[in-house]
This record gives sequence, C-alpha cells and structure tokens, in this order.
Amino acid sequence: MSKFQGMFRIVTYSLSVVLITFLLSNSAAAQDGEKLFKANCASCHKINKKLIGPALAGVQERWEDQEALYAWIKNSQDYLKKNPDDSYAQELFIEYNKSVMTAQAVSDAEIGAILDYISNPPADKVAPVAVAASDTDSAPAEDYSTYWLLGLVLILVIVAKILSGVRGSLEQVKLHAEGKDIPEPRGPLAALKDWVIQNKRYTVLIVIVILASFSVKGWFVLKGIGVYQGYAPEQPIKFSHKIHAGENAIECAYCHHSAYKGKNAGIPSVNVCMNCHKGISEGKVDGPVEIAKIYDAAGWDADEQAYTGVEKPIKWIRIHNLPDFAYFNHSQHVVVGKQKCETCHGEVSEYGYPMKQYSELTMGWCIDCHRETSVAMEGNEYYTKIHKELLERYKDEKIEAFTVEHIGGLECAKCHY
Ligand code: HEC
Ligand code: HEC
Ligand code: HEC
Ligand code: HEC
Ligand code: HEC
Ligand code: HEC
Repeated sequence: MSKFQGMFRIVTYSLSVVLITFLLSNSAAAQDGEKLFKANCASCHKINKKLIGPALAGVQERWEDQEALYAWIKNSQDYLKKNPDDSYAQELFIEYNKSVMTAQAVSDAEIGAILDYISNPPADKVAPVAVAASDTDSAPAEDYSTYWLLGLVLILVIVAKILSGVRGSLEQVKLHAEGKDIPEPRGPLAALKDWVIQNKRYTVLIVIVILASFSVKGWFVLKGIGVYQGYAPEQPIKFSHKIHAGENAIECAYCHHSAYKGKNAGIPSVNVCMNCHKGISEGKVDGPVEIAKIYDAAGWDADEQAYTGVEKPIKWIRIHNLPDFAYFNHSQHVVVGKQKCETCHGEVSEYGYPMKQYSELTMGWCIDCHRETSVAMEGNEYYTKIHKELLERYKDEKIEAFTVEHIGGLECAKCHY
C-alpha cells in the first residue's frame, strides 16, 4: 500500500467518524432539550403559540441579558422582586394577568438545552392537533427521519467524492514528480469502481450501516403505523382522573355524558369544571397553579368572584384518535352493548396525570373483541326480532350465545364508510 493510500484512508476514516459523531451528538442534545421542555415547560408554553405563558420562539432575542433570562426561568417571582427596574419583565407579568410562572428546578445546562430546542425545534413525530371539546380529527405529522437518513448518505457520498478528487490530484502530483505520464481523467462511475475496489472494508461498512438503518426503521414503521398505545401527551392543565373519578368518586358520566348518548364521549367544557372549582381553588398536589388555569380559561376573577367575560378555551390534546375511515360509536358499545369504559380505557380512576391511551385501537383489537364478546340479547327489546332470526338460522349448530360476529360485527361496511 502506498503512503498516499494509507494517508487517504486515515483521512477518510477520521472525517466520517467526526461527521457521524457530530450528527449523532447534535440530535442527542436536541432531544434532551425537547424532553426537558415537554416535562417542565409545555404545560404552560408552546413554541409558536401563546398558551398560559407567551410563545417562546425568539425569546433569547427579547431578553438583552442572558443571565437575567436564566434567572427568570429558575425563579420568575424571585426575579421580579429583585429587579423592580426590569420594565420588560415587570410589564410581561402584568400583561399575563399576573399569572405566576412557577419556579423551575432546572440547571444552567438544562436551560441551555431547552433554549436550543426552542430556537431549533425538530419536526414533531406525533403531532396531534389540539382540540377544545370537539372531535376534529388530526393526522399524525409526517416523519422526517427518512429525509435525514438520505441527507446523511448524500453527505457521505459528497465527502467520498471530494476526497477521491483530492486523492486524484495528489496522485497526479506524485506521478508528475516521478516523471511518469498522467493518465486520462476517468468518468465518475469508473472512479467509484476503483474506489470501491481499493476500499473494500470501508465500502462494506457503509453498506451495512445503510441497510441496518433502513431495516430498523422499516421495522418500526411496519409495526407502529398508527398505533399509539400508551400515548400520554402533556396537557394544558394537569388534570388527574385519579383525583376526580377515583378519590372523589365523580362518575364518568358527569364529565363524559355524551358517551351514553351518541358517537363521541367528548371532553367536558370549562363550565363543567367551574361547577366545582368556583369553590375549590387549591389542589393538594399543585396548590393554586393548575386551578388558576381553569379560572383563566373561564374568565373567572377569583378576587372579585365574578366573570370577566374573557374566555379562552382549554386546548386539551386529544389522545385517542381513530382514522377518519373507521367508524366507532360510544353509545352503541356502552349502552346497547353494555361494555364498561374500563374494558377499553383501563382503570381510568387510578390514572394520575397525564391520561394515557390504554388499548391499541387497531382493527385487530376491534375484531378480536367482536369475535369473543357475546351479545346480551335476552330481555333486550332491541334484539327480540334479530334474536329469533339468529336462533332459527343457527338452530342446527346449537349456538345459543351469539357474539358480535353473528350480528354482522365483522362486516367491513359496519366499521368503514
Ligand atoms: C405554570 C406555568 C408555567 C410554566 C410551567 C413555565 N412557565 Fe414560563 N411563563 C409563564 C407565564 C405565565 C409567563 C408570563 C410572565 C408571567 O406572567 O409571569 C412566562 C414567561 C416565560 C418567559 C419569558 C417570555 C418572554 O416572552 O419574554 C420565559 C423565557 C419562560 N417563561 C420560560 C419558561 C421555561 C424555559 C419553562 C420550563 C423550564 C417555563 N417557562 C415554565 C408560565 C409558565
Ligand atoms: C371531572 C371530570 C371528569 C371525570 C369525572 C372523568 N373524566 Fe375523563 N377526561 C376529563 C378531561 C378534562 C379529559 C381531557 C384531559 C385529559 O386527557 O387528561 C378527559 C379525558 C379522558 C379520556 C381521554 C380522551 C382523549 O383525549 O382521547 C378518556 C378515555 C377518559 N377521560 C375516560 C374517563 C373515564 C372512563 C372516566 C370514569 C372512570 C372519566 N374519564 C371521568 C374529565 C373527566
Ligand atoms: C364534581 C366536582 C369537580 C369537577 C366537576 C371538577 N373538579 Fe377538579 N377537583 C375536584 C376536587 C374535589 C378536587 C380535589 C381538591 C383537593 O385536592 O383538595 C379537585 C382538584 C383539581 C385540581 C388540583 C389537583 C391538585 O391536587 O393539584 C385540578 C387541576 C382540577 N381539579 C382540574 C379540574 C378540571 C380541569 C376540571 C374540568 C374538566 C375539573 N377539575 C372538574 C372536584 C371537581
Ligand atoms: C368498546 C371500547 C370502548 C368503550 C367501552 C368506551 N370507549 Fe371511549 N373510546 C374508544 C375508542 C375506540 C375511542 C376513539 C374514538 C375515535 O377516535 O373516534 C374512544 C375515545 C374516547 C374519548 C375521547 C373523546 C371522544 O369522544 O372520542 C373519551 C373521553 C372516551 N372515549 C371516554 C369513554 C367513557 C367515559 C366510556 C364509558 C362510558 C368509554 N369511553 C367507553 C373505545 C371505547
Ligand atoms: C370490548 C369489546 C369491544 C371492542 C374492543 C370493540 N367493540 Fe364494537 N361492539 C362490541 C359489542 C359488544 C357490540 C354489540 C353492540 C350491540 O349489542 O349492538 C359491538 C358493536 C359494534 C358495531 C355495530 C355492529 C352491528 O352489527 O350493529 C360496530 C360498527 C362496532 N362495534 C365497531 C367497533 C370498532 C370500530 C371498534 C374498534 C375501534 C370496536 N367496535 C371495538 C364490543 C366491542
Ligand atoms: C370492527 C370494526 C372493523 C371491521 C369489521 C373492519 N375494520 Fe378495517 N379497520 C378498523 C379500524 C378501527 C381501523 C384503523 C386501525 C388503525 O388505525 O390502526 C381499520 C383499518 C383498516 C385498513 C387500513 C390498514 C390498517 O390495518 O390500518 C384497511 C385496509 C381495512 N381496515 C380494511 C378492512 C376490510 C377489507 C374489512 C372487511 C373484511 C374491515 N376492514 C373490517 C375497524 C374495522
């Protein structure tokens, strides 16, 4: 192996190591920031939209003094007390109706990661649209990681190309110095072939990395299409089912009464919360902070005990979300089919904040239950006629308990328009 080839190899290896480490470390830091933001800030802030607090996009430009910004994030109330002359901060507090930004237990490094994430948010993988007590459907946003992978491959190809160009010129210089003829320049394909032959081990490595990334990704894509079991997004208010449906034994129907009447179970409006929270202004877990957000949404001035008339709907993040082409009706299952909420949603009264999706919500999940669950027909007027017909039709097979399958629960058109 010539000296040049050896050098070339070292340069290629180290450059790609640097490149890959750079890409990996960069995305790891971005992820930390995202996690920290979601865990600590997302209940009150969005990046591009006002929530309880201001939209945080461009916040570093709004604060001249970065140290002050860090101090603010750690303890905004303390900052306001110590800096009565910071008119920007003082006015911001007043503009936001003196809603308190709670002290944040985050280190300087963590704040740095959060601010990085804010100024550079990655495309959301799962981006449910916020809805307020409605059933607007949302499609998960596109997954951009494939583009990233293609980008990475492209960059590697370009780097290889540049390096092979450099090597070509180096070799020409060498040949020239040795007084030999300089060969004709060759086409890119022939050059690539040469390069592959001379760098077999390196080529194998690249191919393995590319194949592995695609197959890992492919596996997750196939397995995970539209399956969000366990999905538990942060919500604008830390609402706990455990406190309400569990400890205080409030019935599901108090808040989700439409589940018994129609297709959607619905999310209660803020007025339903106010039925009780006019009187309950502090919680055991979060004190007044979370309930203050209810007042803010309802336009309730707790000092004056009066409505201001300025309402802001609470933007609950929708958790369960069947695609548009599938039809599911709550009352059909809960009232007619006598299914318990818990069968499909788990022990909701034991779930603290945040609420999560318990079942898969895949077609297989619906079908399995329809195959296994028998329909309580006797004594149900709705079924008197159908029951007779079914008994007649299946009398030879001596089937007595009819499942949802027997009443047509596996027919495509029942679930797909
Ligand atoms: C309980 C709600 C709440 C939480 C949690 C919260 N904030 Fe805030 N934040 C606010 C409010 C409200 C304001 C507006 C000023 C005020 O009323 O105190 C604000 C203001 C800010 C500002 C100033 C914005 C501007 O436009 O200058 C920054 C920066 C900020 N928050 C960052 C954060 C970060 C970072 C986190 C997470 C570590 C966080 N906040 C968590 C409620 C919150
Ligand atoms: C005091 C009112 C209240 C009661 C009582 C209550 N819920 Fe809820 N429920 C809510 C609110 C508010 C949300 C939206 C916030 C969230 O997802 O945490 C919600 C969300 C849900 C969701 C997820 C909705 C989505 O976005 O997909 C399910 C499922 C649910 N509730 C089931 C139940 C069941 C089952 C019970 C009874 C055991 C119950 N709830 C009792 C208020 C209530
Ligand atoms: C039927 C009465 C009732 C309704 C309706 C109700 N709550 Fe509550 N809520 C309570 C009780 C009781 C507590 C417990 C207070 C305590 O911790 O002492 C509570 C506590 C809370 C807390 C504080 C948790 C903590 O410990 O920090 C939040 C936040 C809250 N509720 C949000 C809501 C929201 C949002 C709604 C409307 C979707 C709602 N509540 C509707 C009765 C109700
Ligand atoms: C047979 C299974 C099943 C049962 C039983 C069931 N749900 Fe659901 N629930 C679902 C499915 C599936 C969705 C998603 C619907 C969609 O996205 O269109 C859902 C969605 C919800 C939502 C989100 C908002 C909405 O209207 O879609 C709430 C809240 C909810 N269920 C509450 C309840 C409550 C309360 C009960 C009991 C009274 C109950 N569910 C019983 C399967 C069930
Ligand atoms: C826990 C069991 C269970 C699950 C899970 C379930 N179902 Fe059902 N489903 C039933 C029962 C029981 C009935 C019969 C109701 C009745 O008596 O009409 C039914 C009936 C139906 C019907 C009416 C069938 C007919 O012939 O009238 C449709 C449509 C339906 N389900 C759709 C769905 C969809 C879509 C899903 C999944 C998102 C689903 N179901 C999940 C138990 C279930
Ligand atoms: C009991 C209700 C139900 C019945 C019956 C049903 N489907 Fe589905 N189907 C669903 C649900 C719910 C989804 C969405 C699942 C998801 O998002 O993962 C779905 C999804 C699909 C999809 C999209 C691919 C996928 O798996 O996500 C196709 C295609 C489909 N169904 C075809 C059919 C055909 C063909 C039939 C009749 C043989 C049928 N379905 C019967 C509930 C049903």
